[in-house]
Amino acid sequence: MVILLAKVLVLNGPNLNLLGTREPDIYGQVTLDKINEQLNQLADQLGLDLEFYHSNSEGEIITRIQQSVPNVKGILINPGAFTHYSLAIRDAISAVGAPCVEVHLSNIYAREEFRQHSVIAPVCLGQVSGFGPLSYLLGLRALAEKLYEN
Ligand code: DQA
Repeated sequence: MVILLAKVLVLNGPNLNLLGTREPDIYGQVTLDKINEQLNQLADQLGLDLEFYHSNSEGEIITRIQQSVPNVKGILINPGAFTHYSLAIRDAISAVGAPCVEVHLSNIYAREEFRQHSVIAPVCLGQVSGFGPLSYLLGLRALAEKLYEN
């Protein structure tokens, strides 16, 4: 018997490929590969199939979001600095209509003023911010709950 697991796209925006060495006092020392490994372990428990994508480019992220239909059932995204100004990524999320959760390692509301606003959050189910790698795991759990609700 083949069991089809719900596919979730895990998207990471600019500079998140540098996790581990990037401003460790703010973002910690855990690499993106390690976070993805932890997400995969959790996904096994939650019955989800994760697809990972990182890009430093806004256009590539938008294209990946567009390509997610119809296979991807949900999106977990850390848009990096695009969080604060990319109306184009926001529109792409709205356009595909997949349930989306926004995550941040740092608490964006406790940082510089320009980071305290997300243009992406209004088109997401919710946002998890400030828990380091745990933000991704909590975000995935929340997304799974919502996916299984429907
Ligand atoms: C970030 C917060 C953003 O303000 C910043 O530009 C990032 C990382 C976070 O995960 O805390 O690149 O999204």
